[in-house]
Amino acid sequence: MDLTELKNRAKEEIEKIVDLKSADDFFKKYLGKKGEVAQIFDSLKDLAIEEKKAIGQEANILKKEIEEFFNTKADELKNASKQAGLGHKAEKIDITRPGQKIQRGHLHPLTLAMNEACCIFQTMGFEIAQGPELETEWYNFDALNVPKDHPARDMQDTFWLKDTRTVKNEIKSSKLLMRTQTSPVQIRYMESHQPPLRIIAPGRVFRNEATDAKHGAQFYQLEGLMVDKEVAACNFKAIIEEFLKRFFKTNIEMRLRPGFFPFTEPSFEIDVKRPDGRWMEIMGAGMVHPNVFRAAGLNASVKPGLGWQGFAFGVGIDRLAIVKYKISDIRLLYQNDLRFLQQF
Ligand code: DAH
Repeated sequence: MDLTELKNRAKEEIEKIVDLKSADDFFKKYLGKKGEVAQIFDSLKDLAIEEKKAIGQEANILKKEIEEFFNTKADELKNASKQAGLGHKAEKIDITRPGQKIQRGHLHPLTLAMNEACCIFQTMGFEIAQGPELETEWYNFDALNVPKDHPARDMQDTFWLKDTRTVKNEIKSSKLLMRTQTSPVQIRYMESHQPPLRIIAPGRVFRNEATDAKHGAQFYQLEGLMVDKEVAACNFKAIIEEFLKRFFKTNIEMRLRPGFFPFTEPSFEIDVKRPDGRWMEIMGAGMVHPNVFRAAGLNASVKPGLGWQGFAFGVGIDRLAIVKYKISDIRLLYQNDLRFLQQF
């Protein structure tokens, strides 16, 4: 066995090594359990005692030398990789690097507008009331003083249900429809609550009509109703002015026009001035018609102090939102286009 040959071969080999993986292979080949050095020690057992001693000593020296080769190379390689920034110690966190932005969800502009409107009325003492989206003809029209064959019923194109079953426990029910307005909540509330009262009823309404930039087949309304012994149109005007000021956070210009709704007398329509100077109708309102009080089982009076009086209004939340957020087309609110929604 030529130990010098082995040493020279190992030396030559280690000098050529430039990566840790080859250094590892080198270790296995020469210094591993079944490596060449181990084989030498293995073969000693067949030798005579004198020879065993002599070669054993040489083999020990050889082993140390090859270990030395390996250790030197391993240090060299580790230092090199450290300088190149690949080593373990180079893995530190650079706190000056810009972070990765985590996408946060947020509320839809319609929800924002609705929440804000509800909040403002709540601070003025209005309580939230609710009613069903699937309504009966009685609550949506009859009780609101919209006579059966009156053209007023055509003002709001209705989605009628084919099913004309009467709704359980509702004696006054008739044909079923998707509510065209939140006004039926007025009746439902007054049937079960005694005035004085101040409520708002937020909700979705449905109209069977073509959509355009200002109209949708479904949209949101906020109904309001205040009933007391002495409530006049000036109270309504003051409350609405205050509401608009707080909602738009500016002294937005508004105008009150005479209008017609069967459930109010007199009736008004309220417009606000958009940033481009055009007027936009946002609300219908008026003094509650005595027939509406009667339908709800209350005693009405046009004279102050003798019976109940009140004002009611229905504001279009979609309209409020497009004016507040300067949106050109109401349909954008329903298209779920992230490029649009992410701006809020
Ligand atoms: N319900 C009406 C509509 O949808 C709006 C409205 C007008 C509501 C006058 C009212 C009101 O409460 O008094 O067009």
